Amino acid sequence: MTLGDERDNEIQPFPPVNARAPFIWHGGDYNPEQWPAAVWDEDVRLMQQSHYMVPTVGVFSWVSLQPDEERFTFDWLDTILDKLAAAGRFVCLATPSAAQPAWMSQRYPDVLRADEKGQRRHHSGRVNFCPTSPTYRHFAQQMARKLAERYHNHPALLVWHIANEYGGACYCEHCAKKFRDWLQQRYGSLETLNQQWWTSFWSHTYTDWSQIEPPYANGERLTHGLTIDYRRFQSEMMLQCFQLERDAIRTFSKDTPITTNLMGTYFELDYREWAKQMDVIAWDCYPRPSDNPGDIAFLHDLNRGLRDGQPFMLMEQTPSSQNWQEINALKRPGILRLWSYLAVAHGAETVMYFQWRRGRGGCEKMHGAVVEHSGRSDTRVFREVSELGAELTRLGDRTLGGVTRARVAIMFDWNNWWAIEGTIGPVRDKRYVQVVRQHYAAFWRRKIAVDIVFSDSDLSRYSIVVAPMLYMVKPGVGERITKFVEQGGSFVATYFSGIANEHDLAFEGYPGPLKQLLGIWNEEIDALYPEQQNQIVMSDGSGSYTCGRLCEIIHCEGATALATYGSDFYAGQPVVTRNTFGQGAAYYIASEPEDRFLDDFYGGILEGLHIGAALDVPAGVEVTQRVTKRGPLLFLLNHQAESAEIVLPSGQQYRDLIHGSVVTGKMALAGHDVAILEAGSSL
Ligand code: GLA
Ligand code: ZN
Repeated sequence: MTLGDERDNEIQPFPPVNARAPFIWHGGDYNPEQWPAAVWDEDVRLMQQSHYMVPTVGVFSWVSLQPDEERFTFDWLDTILDKLAAAGRFVCLATPSAAQPAWMSQRYPDVLRADEKGQRRHHSGRVNFCPTSPTYRHFAQQMARKLAERYHNHPALLVWHIANEYGGACYCEHCAKKFRDWLQQRYGSLETLNQQWWTSFWSHTYTDWSQIEPPYANGERLTHGLTIDYRRFQSEMMLQCFQLERDAIRTFSKDTPITTNLMGTYFELDYREWAKQMDVIAWDCYPRPSDNPGDIAFLHDLNRGLRDGQPFMLMEQTPSSQNWQEINALKRPGILRLWSYLAVAHGAETVMYFQWRRGRGGCEKMHGAVVEHSGRSDTRVFREVSELGAELTRLGDRTLGGVTRARVAIMFDWNNWWAIEGTIGPVRDKRYVQVVRQHYAAFWRRKIAVDIVFSDSDLSRYSIVVAPMLYMVKPGVGERITKFVEQGGSFVATYFSGIANEHDLAFEGYPGPLKQLLGIWNEEIDALYPEQQNQIVMSDGSGSYTCGRLCEIIHCEGATALATYGSDFYAGQPVVTRNTFGQGAAYYIASEPEDRFLDDFYGGILEGLHIGAALDVPAGVEVTQRVTKRGPLLFLLNHQAESAEIVLPSGQQYRDLIHGSVVTGKMALAGHDVAILEAGSSL
């Protein structure tokens, strides 16, 4: 049994696909409550025409389901669900709790969120609820229970979608009180809290729990332990709202998976913690049309990583354009298809949109939709959506359950991100996510599969683990990484690592718990102005590279210098080091390098470990592999407008599941085209 096989067994299957609808779900947000019933039959007809198989119904429909405290109006939803079922559609059924009705805010103002100054907001917008409000929790739970009770056996029901894009934070009095309780639980004594938050600084020592306030915009924002804990607390309180609804649904709906839609690298919520409570990850993908596909791939990999490799749902993407970015360009012809397969190539089992029909009013009336205001189906977007839907239908279940067998992992951690952003100095713009993406991109350019992992992930399945800017090293993390290297792994750390513990209290000497493993110590951190640079001069004479932004002055204590600085008063001191440790090696990159350095550096490590791409393909073409129970599939994506020539391994025959052809030898992949190759018998 190979390493990959063992790993596949650990990856949890994506439950709904196996059970009810074994094909890539094509569908997305549908808001029939915004339209007169006369439009519904036309919707259903157009959904059939466009292979829109899984509409998401019920998001933001609270007042339509509960026009006042005592009255529930499910009739319209009954009608819609029945119509959809009769038309062979399935439903992603949402609870409406992302936007409470006006009557609720008016009668129970405690449901309203308070802003960063602690001032209660007026009824408005959405996600404007206080996550600790007992009233909000009561009503949200009640609605979830009623929906589940009524629809858990409905033939159209495939998956539950709770609320919508949880986010932000509340600073109300009730949250403040709950926060103090939460802190008491966490720290036990005020002495411990004061010590971990280093409150003797500027005389900030608390002498009574009641003195602790949330980090108001016009209040205490300089105690970093406090700000991090408030983020943890708010993320946890919002997650509790999700859990309460989930549990209410579960009472009736035993097997149907329950999820909510996440937002990628969204700062406010620790999605790794959220993932543990969700049955399947679902996320909303809204890149700018000008974005690099590698950056989009990173986000898909992040979502696949949240539940340790389990395939995920692409819950939303625009079929054409967003309306909330500064400039909302249209996706060019073919890009919707290409980027939908980009998601599938990285582990998505669904291709879903926001939105079905463009509303005539509200702040999203200019947002792209499958059906535009004209209501016509003879449009480019409707045609592209329909063609994609037909193609996905033809694929059937062939890609489902496919796993990615990456040997490289890149670590991402929300607590670390919060801590880095909260720290003042040595530069203001910390660029944590950009730095993680810079390292990811070096592998993406080489078409090397990468898993995004978290500080609590099992690392034993990987050969290389990269942890960019691991500033915060939580308990157990240093030990886990050390064990990984001892057992033969290659670990790469960068500048700004091993600085602080989980409370953002600095270690006495950097890189803290990683010091012995890396075999270095860090004396000083220099920050460079944008126009300044230093150089990474390779000790073996192979060349030099530029570096900048942060230059750490480090010393080897066991490690060997692979490169030294080229200039300034620390010229000749180590900038890239390698420490042999146990059966593995730990590398440290002490400054921010140009991309070319990472290409060569990772190229060397990958070669040494015999890790390569699933297939040799020209630049501009992406290749990924997902291994299904019926064997591996190669996904080829041509991100360029020009056609590309792919040379297949000699003697090997493939079936292209997209074009329905048998390919061998050389194959042409048209501009922006996609192929999914299944290996057939050897020639
Ligand atoms: C998010 C939301 C949707 C809609 C889209 C617009 O993803 O979940 O309700 O607002 O953005 O792009
Ligand atoms: Zn609150």
